[in-house]
Amino acid sequence: MDKTYFGTLYVNGIVPVAVIKDEKTAVPLAAAILEGGIDCIEVTFRTPTAAKSIELIHENFPEMLIGAGTILTGEQAETAARAGASFVVSPGLSLPLIKECNAAKIPLIPGVATATEVITAMENGVTAVKFFPAKQAGGVNYLKAISAVFPDVKFMPTGGIDLENLADYLSISTVFCCGGSFMFKTDDYKKITELSKAAALIVKSKREKRYFYV
Ligand code: 3PG
Repeated sequence: MDKTYFGTLYVNGIVPVAVIKDEKTAVPLAAAILEGGIDCIEVTFRTPTAAKSIELIHENFPEMLIGAGTILTGEQAETAARAGASFVVSPGLSLPLIKECNAAKIPLIPGVATATEVITAMENGVTAVKFFPAKQAGGVNYLKAISAVFPDVKFMPTGGIDLENLADYLSISTVFCCGGSFMFKTDDYKKITELSKAAALIVKSKREKRYFYV
C-alpha cells in the first residue's frame, strides 16, 4: 500500500467525490474544497471530461491528492494516473483490475459490500477497500458488524454519506476515510466551501479522540 495516499486520505477523513460534466468547473470545484480545508478529491470516470479534469486540477493544485473513481479497467486506471491521479477507486471487486493496477503500480481501492468480497480482497493482497454503496448496503450498523470480523481491513464507506451520518461512520475503528458527493449538490462555490468546512470540522472532532496507526 502506498502510505502517502493512504495517510492523506486518513488525515482528510472525507474525500469529496465529483462527477464533473464540464471541465471548466474542475479547477473552481477543487479550489472551493481546498478553501474549505480538504486537500483531496476523487473525480469519477463517468463523464468524458474526467481525465482532462484531473489534469487541470493537478496542474493548478499540485499539492492536492487526486483519485479517479468508478474505474472499471486497467486502461482507465492508466489514463487516470497519466492525468495526475495518485490512486484509483472501483465500485466493485475485479480480480483482473487488481492485477492490472498492481502491474502498473497504481494504488487501487476496490469496492466491497459483503464479507465474502472482503475475504476475496484480502486473498488478493488488498487491505483498504471502499464499502459501497454504504447507506444502501446496510449503513453504519452493517459496517460495524463486518468490521468486527475484519479488524485488519481498512474501509472507506461511500454512498449516502452526508453531514448527518459522517461522524457515525468515522466512529468505526476500521474506517480510514469516507467518500461523498454531498458538498457538490449545489453549483454555488461558496456553499461548497461551507459544506467542506463543516465536514472537515466533523472529522477534526472525531480524530482528536482516537489514534489510528497507518
Ligand atoms: C459515487 O461514486 O458517486 C459515490 O458513491 C458517491 O455517492 P454519494 O453521491 O451518495 O455520496
